[in-house]
Amino acid sequence: MSVAKTVAIFLTCAVALAACGKPEPVASPAVVQSASAARVAFAGAPPVVPVPATPVAPEQVAGKLVFDKTCGLCHGAGTGGSPRPGDKANWAPRIAQGMDVLYEHARVGYNGAYGYMPARGGASATDSEIKAGVDYMVSLSR
Ligand code: HEC
Repeated sequence: MSVAKTVAIFLTCAVALAACGKPEPVASPAVVQSASAARVAFAGAPPVVPVPATPVAPEQVAGKLVFDKTCGLCHGAGTGGSPRPGDKANWAPRIAQGMDVLYEHARVGYNGAYGYMPARGGASATDSEIKAGVDYMVSLSR
């Protein structure tokens, strides 16, 4: 047998072996199902939960970031008399004032019947971050 023929046979075998690789594993339907079941369970949580579990709608992402970083320090647990997101009874009369009033109170500060809301949550949040934070809390409290 010539060297060239031996190499050719060797290459053919190598290609044949490689072609017989195992197929890619596919996520089993059971795993996919249990993940979405968990999501449904979270979505059904009682409204008084201060910070909602996943999922967060795309338009809420910016607001959730601001909330997690700043507003949630008080609003997460209702510290100092702050309304918690999801506490609809507390938010209803506030929402009734109109969104512009809420943005303004969050921006310049607000001394209400329950406590003091510091301007910009006591932080350096920009106007658009404040708006996103208010929108986020209100969207969970309607
Ligand atoms: C240091 C604690 C604290 C932080 C931080 C804080 N708040 Fe507040 N916030 C309060 C308190 C207390 C009230 C309730 C005041 C009242 O009604 O007596 C309040 C009320 C509000 C209201 C309702 C105002 C109204 O007119 O009823 C809005 C809107 C609000 N906060 C937005 C925000 C946003 C947005 C952030 C984050 C950028 C934030 N707050 C961070 C304490 C805080």
